[in-house]
Amino acid sequence: MFPNVFAPNLLAGKSALVTGGGSGIGAGIARLFAQHGAKVALVGRTAQKLETTASAIKEAGGVATIHPCDVRDYPALETAINDAADANGGLDVLVNSAAGNFLAPAATLSANGFRAVVDIDLCGTFNACRAAFAHLSKRGGSIVSITATQADVPTPLQCHVGAAKAGIAKLTRDLALEWSKLGIRVTAIAPGPIEGTEGMSRLAPGDAEQQLKSRVPLGRYGTIEEVANATLFLVSPASAYITGTTLLIDGGTSLIGPGPFLEMMGF
Ligand code: NAP
Ligand code: COA
Repeated sequence: MFPNVFAPNLLAGKSALVTGGGSGIGAGIARLFAQHGAKVALVGRTAQKLETTASAIKEAGGVATIHPCDVRDYPALETAINDAADANGGLDVLVNSAAGNFLAPAATLSANGFRAVVDIDLCGTFNACRAAFAHLSKRGGSIVSITATQADVPTPLQCHVGAAKAGIAKLTRDLALEWSKLGIRVTAIAPGPIEGTEGMSRLAPGDAEQQLKSRVPLGRYGTIEEVANATLFLVSPASAYITGTTLLIDGGTSLIGPGPFLEMMGF
């Protein structure tokens, strides 16, 4: 259970779908949403990961369904989103957390490696938004996409991720404008380094972790719970007048530019 910093049952009667909901930040968001009364649908490629998260939600008394598919496969994703809406009485909230990342210098990154990340992160986010639109537009709703500080801060070995995440931030603003009249709010969250995640084990393995932590202005990594709480805020009535924005949750990391990453990555 997450510590309760909001009124209980903030999402009672709501239906939410989380891509990348089988692990890490996406799983944390799904668990918090379920704790607040939402019926939660989980999308990802690995059924076992989705099953593990869904079981934890059900054991805690929540409702969760799993819909294994690849966000790059539009017909499969559209079917998954329609199935989730059928199962849970429509759709009110979409969270895009599915992503891929690895460290690679631009000079040796293959065209397919660049495309794989842009396809999963940016195209996958558009695919989910596009397929969810039919449901969200029926009664209004909200979308939150997880970007990253690399969207703005030039970061070595991350050109593929930076390009994809910057695209999501711009997509967020464009969709927010186009869909506002239908009562759909579209926002994003840009986390900095988050403790205990696959993302950080890929970006700062071993000794690099302590090195990076010591440079974060707030002196530590963030937690999955902190990102989940911010996501809950963005889909709650408390943010009814917020759309198009990207919220940084990075302990101030982006304020000091690429310095920590340059050191960590030996630049
Ligand atoms: P994670 O646990 O690996 O989460 C990513 C999820 O996306 C996985 O469950 C993965 O499951 C799923 N996924 C990957 N490719 C997919 C595809 N093609 N189709 C469907 N699902 C796919 O990593 P995380 O660190 O928690 O990252 C979650 C989000 O936070 C990402 O958007 C990441 O960019 C962002 N973020 C993380 C950090 C951090 O410090 N960790 C910082 C900034 C931003 P399958 O492989 O089973 O599909
Ligand atoms: N360095 C350089 N290139 C790499 C790489 C690495 N570490 N890992 C993969 N690639 C390249 C591959 O070589 C391939 O290019 P090629 O055909 O020119 O050789 C391309 O990326 C696609 O690889 P593939 O394994 O087919 O991709 P995939 O679609 O199965 O997997 C990834 C996508 C590569 C992003 C994989 O890391 C993944 O599934 N990640 C999900 C989890 C994750 O990254 N979590 C952290 C989120 S922040």
